[in-house]
Amino acid sequence: MSEIVRFSVSVEDDLLARFDRYCEEERFATRSEAVRQLIRNKLTQRAWATDAGEVAGTLTLVYDHHRPQLRDRLTQVQHDHTGLIVSTLHAHLTHSLCLEVIVLRGPAGELQKIAAELKGLKGIYTGELVMASGEMLDAEH
Ligand code: NI
Repeated sequence: MSEIVRFSVSVEDDLLARFDRYCEEERFATRSEAVRQLIRNKLTQRAWATDAGEVAGTLTLVYDHHRPQLRDRLTQVQHDHTGLIVSTLHAHLTHSLCLEVIVLRGPAGELQKIAAELKGLKGIYTGELVMASGEMLDAEH
């Protein structure tokens, strides 16, 4: 039986308010219950996606384009992986916010690595990788 450990997390107050609304709407008894489920889902999703099979996917990023060097870093990382990046769509959401949807295709583990690199850049508010399973792509051949 696993031991329960406590840890503290720092978040913006408005983000916490939204998370509390999510917990209420999804009827979680406690925040801990919701966080545990989110962690499990993410880890499951990640395990599924780290094989070497060919997959296609999109990485959606929302970021602050006023953040120094972020634009350059995003472009640089994408230019470093032209064999895996099919296309990029950019939308200017507000005065400072940008939305970028990057279409990727290649080994799942590689796509996961690029996504992690891009999502980890300072100034990225949110990043989500959605992958179509390798089986779907293989079925075509
Ligand atoms: Ni923009």
